[in-house]
Amino acid sequence: MIRVLFNKKGGVGKSSLTCNLAAISAAKGLKTLVIDLDTQCNASQYLLNRTNSPEPRKNSLEPQSNSLEPRINSLDQITDNMAAFYDQTITFHIRKKPTIEFVSQTAFENLDIIPSSPELDQLHTKLESRHKIYKLKEGLEQLKDHYDRIYIDTAPALNFYSLSALIAADRCLIPMDCDEFSRQAIYNMMQHLAEIKEDHNPALEIEGIIANQFMARAKVPLKIINELKSEGHKVLDSKLSSSVKMRESHQVHTPLIHLAPKHKLTLELVALWQEIEVDFLTSLQY
Ligand SMILES: Nc1ncnc2c1ncn2[C@@H]1O[C@H](COP(=O)(O)OP(=O)(O)OP(=O)(O)O)[C@@H](O)[C@H]1O
Ligand SMILES: [Mg+2]
Repeated sequence: MIRVLFNKKGGVGKSSLTCNLAAISAAKGLKTLVIDLDTQCNASQYLLNRTNSPEPRKNSLEPQSNSLEPRINSLDQITDNMAAFYDQTITFHIRKKPTIEFVSQTAFENLDIIPSSPELDQLHTKLESRHKIYKLKEGLEQLKDHYDRIYIDTAPALNFYSLSALIAADRCLIPMDCDEFSRQAIYNMMQHLAEIKEDHNPALEIEGIIANQFMARAKVPLKIINELKSEGHKVLDSKLSSSVKMRESHQVHTPLIHLAPKHKLTLELVALWQEIEVDFLTSLQY
């Protein structure tokens, strides 16, 4: 299953939640891949550039050319990234590399990534003019047997890459910080999502809005959430509070499930993961 985290508004928690939900998914035993489609590379830096990095899961010095096993590396060493993936769609190659060869391992069990690159910015116009919008979908179809879950992080814009992600995904999660501007952004985005669903991806399910940095004691956030719900928008029950632990976890390149498994925000993230995986978790009981 492929999930995309999308919101045209910046700084609402897309990258933080992509990485943390993916890390929980992996920690629970699901083979999980993060795709970073934002040229800010925040998700890639979060999951790859580890200080005090533990031992790699596999020997990163092993020859890789004939191996389908993903590699572990720091971000600046990685050339097999999303830019390389897209580059081969517009360049003549004798042999097109399968998508799995663009994957790198993270230091966390079951968690891999195809990192982003600032070079995606330069490729953007060429890709658009040559109608490569379905290439991501085709590429990810090759990974069905390799990964149980794929999480895609997107830029705060409806650009070529985020549109590609929405076309490739099964489900869309919309993180929001619960202020008035965010609400306006949601209305605008829902229209775009409805159009994308109709024109390109009828299977796309809007899984829900995630209230991030939710202030339980303030009146406005709750009012905004209740109004969105009364207007028929799906808001997930699990709300995430604000904590400096999130920034700390970025600094040490370690998702919260590994950095602070008992922390309030981690438990809220696990509850959110359980909410979106309720069908899967129920199926395990039978
Ligand atoms: N629950 C939280 N508690 C505290 N800080 C948070 C929380 N969620 C996100 N943040 C912080 O808010 C900032 C923005 O988060 P993040 O980068 O994940 O958002 P984004 O939507 O990916 O941003 P962009 O649109 O620029 O890609 C970061 O500094 C992050 O540490
Ligand atoms: Mg981001």
